[in-house]
This record gives sequence, C-alpha cells and structure tokens, in this order.
Amino acid sequence: MSKVTVVGAGNVGATCANVLAHKDLVKEIVLLDIQGDLARGKALDSWQQAPIDYYSTHLKGTEDYKETANSDIVVITAGVPRKPGMSRDDLISTNAKIVNMVTKSIMEHSKNPIIIVVSNPLDVMTYAAYKASGLDSTRVFGMAGILDTARYRAFLAEALKVSPKEIQAVLMGGHGDTMVPLPRYTTVSGIPVTELIEDDKLDAIVERTKMGGGELVKLMGTSAWYAPGAAAAQMVESIVRDENRIFPCCALLNGEYGMKDIFLGVPVKLGAKGIVQMLELKLNKDEMELLKSSAGHVRAVMEVYDGMGV
Ligand code: NAI
Ligand code: 2OP
Repeated sequence: MSKVTVVGAGNVGATCANVLAHKDLVKEIVLLDIQGDLARGKALDSWQQAPIDYYSTHLKGTEDYKETANSDIVVITAGVPRKPGMSRDDLISTNAKIVNMVTKSIMEHSKNPIIIVVSNPLDVMTYAAYKASGLDSTRVFGMAGILDTARYRAFLAEALKVSPKEIQAVLMGGHGDTMVPLPRYTTVSGIPVTELIEDDKLDAIVERTKMGGGELVKLMGTSAWYAPGAAAAQMVESIVRDENRIFPCCALLNGEYGMKDIFLGVPVKLGAKGIVQMLELKLNKDEMELLKSSAGHVRAVMEVYDGMGV
C-alpha cells in the first residue's frame, strides 16, 4: 500500500485527496500546504468522511515536509489559480518559484517518487518540477489531457444524448487554447464520432473544449477543481494499481513526433513505474501542424521560465 502526498490543500489538491481516499487504494495521504491549518482541517474533514463512505485510507494535513518522507507518489497543486481575464501563462511568475521550491523540498525527504504536476502553466511547471527533481522523465509528468478530454467527452455526450462512459478520445498538445482535440481518434462505443455528428457541431465542441478552462473561470471567478482533482486521482490510481491505462499526459518528448526537449501532452501508458510507454500516433498533416503550433507556444513559455533563472 502506497503513500501519496498532495501538495496544495486548495480546491484542486483537497479534491484530489478526497477522491483518492474514496478509491481506498493507498494507506496514507499527506496533504501539505503552507497554510498548515487549512491542510489539517481538510484532511481531518476527509478522514471523518471515511466511516460514512467506507474507506480506510488515512489522511493527514501538515505544513512540514518531514511528514512527506518516503512518498511513492506526489501530486503538486500548489500555486495560484487564474482569475477572469488571465491566461494560464500569466501565472508563471508566481507559480514557477513555488513549484521549484516544493519539488526541492519533496526530494529532500523522498528518494525516487513519481511526481504528477497540476499547477499552471501546466506544461512549463512540469518542466520546472523535472529540472528541480533530477528524476527520470518517466517519473515526472503533468495532468491536463485527462481533464481536457473529459470536457470534450462531456460536451459530446450532451450533444449526442449518450452516456459520457461511451466516449473515448485522445487530445494532444499544450494545456492552453492551442490544445489539439483529435476527432479522428474519437469514438462512441467504437463508432467513429464523425459518423454520428455534423461537422459544424463537432467543430463547435472542439472550440468549446479549447476554451473549457476559461468558461469555468468566467462562471466561478477561479478555476475548476472537481474534474481536475478527479483527473489527478485517476492518474494515481493507474500507477498504484499498475494498470497501464492510456491517458493523454504532459510528458518529455525525446524525438517522438519529431520533437525533443519539450513537455507536451501526448498519449502515454501509466503503470507502477510511471510512464511505461509513449504512444506515437500517425497524425495527418493538419493534425501535425496543430501539434507543432501548440508546441511552439509551450516552448516560448519554457524559454520564459529558463530566463527567470529560478
Ligand atoms: P487554490 O488557490 O484553491 O489552492 C492552491 C493552494 O496552494 C493554496 O491552498 C495555497 O496555500 C497553496 N500554496 C501556495 N504556495 C504554496 C507553497 N509554496 N507550498 C505549499 N502550498 C502552497 O488553487 P487551485 O484551484 O487548487 O489550483 C491550484 C493550481 O492548479 C493552480 O495553479 C491552477 O491554475 C492549477 N490547475 C491546473 C489544472 C490542470 O488541468 N493542470 C486544472 C485546475 C487547476
Ligand atoms: C483548467 O483548465 C485552470 O487549467 C485549469 O481548468
């Protein structure tokens, strides 16, 4: 049974810890936040839910990294979320320092954890955690694609009046407005989605998906947490159960898709050792162009990060 640390006990971190506890998969979840009492309070509240919802996973809140010692998996959600009018990239000046510091503190107490980054701007914060940790790139990756495909699948389910369970999809690229949903790789119970929906409706869903995070920020004044927290917990589950499930995750490319030294959303297999395989889809020319343009955007923000000298 594993030990999982979730850093950041805000909306996403607390949700992730709570969803994970409900899966009853791991022995212990440590919820760490600079606001120690917030972490302690949310962990205690989640633990008091255990007798009601029947799970044994124990939750503990803290601000002390010593409590994270020997974590198998660490989910980093620390940082600020965006407010209406902001892009995810606007968060870099604050979150880069936080993610860097959090990763170094984690590494002081855990030798070889798997790190799942959630903080935004996601692709570049994953790069920051990779650099600060010194871990192999199969052990540091980011959560975005599960969330973005979930939005896409939910919109499609509504339009087609089918259960969201029936919709399988892949989405690639950076976690931003340049993300690349892939209708050619979208099926509804095995049926290509293009056979079930008109092109203009599908195009509108693709566009809504790309702006899906912003839609929620406009509604709530801060970014989403239920689906993001559950998405990160699903990644933890695939690792702990060694399931080898295939998810779009933000990972370091090393020649795949003709790109190197960049963190980008691509389909990967997640198992006990982290990324056990990266899948290289045979993208057509248009899809490849969209992916390259998204990569160009991520690379520009990575350069901003490098220039910060964090
Ligand atoms: P939040 O404001 O509710 O929680 C963030 C928490 O981080 C706060 O409790 C804060 O005290 C804590 N924190 C700040 N600095 C810290 C430090 N140095 N050490 C430990 N804890 C620290 O924000 P929310 O909504 O939970 O979002 C967290 C991050 O996740 C944001 O950057 C947001 O943009 C990102 N996000 C990413 C998604 C994705 O798909 N990758 C989806 C949703 C949010
Ligand atoms: C989202 O897509 C803000 O990245 C976050 O909801």
